[in-house]
Amino acid sequence: MSSTRRRCFKPREREKVVNHSPRQKFKAVPNFEKEHWETIFSTKAEEEVSWFQPYPKTSMEFLELFDLPLSANIIDIGAGDSHFIELLLERGYQNVWAMDISAKAIERLQTRLGEKAKNVHWVVSDVTEFKPSVQFDFWHDRAAFHFLTTEEKISRYVDLAEDSIREAGYLILGTFSEDGPKKCSGLEIKQYSEASMSARFEVNFERIKCIQEDHTTPFNTVQNFLFCSFQRK
Ligand SMILES: C[S@@+](CC[C@H](N)C(=O)[O-])C[C@H]1O[C@@H](n2cnc3c(N)ncnc32)[C@H](O)[C@@H]1O
Repeated sequence: MSSTRRRCFKPREREKVVNHSPRQKFKAVPNFEKEHWETIFSTKAEEEVSWFQPYPKTSMEFLELFDLPLSANIIDIGAGDSHFIELLLERGYQNVWAMDISAKAIERLQTRLGEKAKNVHWVVSDVTEFKPSVQFDFWHDRAAFHFLTTEEKISRYVDLAEDSIREAGYLILGTFSEDGPKKCSGLEIKQYSEASMSARFEVNFERIKCIQEDHTTPFNTVQNFLFCSFQRK
C-alpha cells in the first residue's frame, strides 16, 4: 500500500464499530477532546496548568458589575477546577451550576468543596451538546469557548447561549486575544478580538464592555486574554 493510502486510511481506524449487524453499522466516534481533558485533570495538579489562578479577579469584577440577586441562576461553562465556583458560594449565591466536559475536573472541584458541593448543580457534558433545564441570569466562560474551532461548534454554542440566557441576563466570555497564544493545553484555539467576538453574538446580545488583560501563568509566561460582557436583548 502506498504511503498516501495509509495516511488516508488512518483516521477511520480510530472509529470504533459498535454494531456488527450487516444492515446497520453505527460508528461511535471517540470524543478526543473529552479524553484530552480527562487526562489533563487526572495527571496535573492545579498549579501545573497554564490557566491556574488562585483568585479569578476579572471574573469576580464582571460579576460585581451586575448586582445579581442571590437567587440568580449562575453557570460556569468549562469550570474545570477553578476557584470561581467556591467564591460564588462564599458570596451566598444559591443557584450555582458548574459544567465541564471532564468528569475528573468536576470530581476534583467537588472534592475541594467538600460538604459545600451539595449546593452546586453539576453537569458533565460537552457544551455543544448541553441541554439546560433552566435559563441563566449569568453565564460565565473563561477559556472554554476558544477551544471551539469549527463553524458548526461555534454556532451551536452561540445558539445555546441565546436560548439559555434569559432576557436581560448576562454573558461573560474570556478567550485568548489576537495578542495571545494560538494553542492552549496543546490544543488549537480560536483567538478573538473585541470586533470578532462581538460579531458572533451581536444578533441577540448587546455588548457591555470588553477588556484585554495579561494572565501570568504558574510558569511565569504571559497570556493575553480578551474578556467581553454582553446582555441578552
Ligand atoms: C483552560 S481550562 C479553563 C478552566 C476554568 N474555566 C478556569 O478558568 O480555570 C478549559 C476548560 O474547559 C473545559 N472544556 C473544554 N472543551 C469543552 C467543551 N467542549 N465543553 C465543556 N467543557 C469544555 C475543559 O475540560 C477545561 O476544564
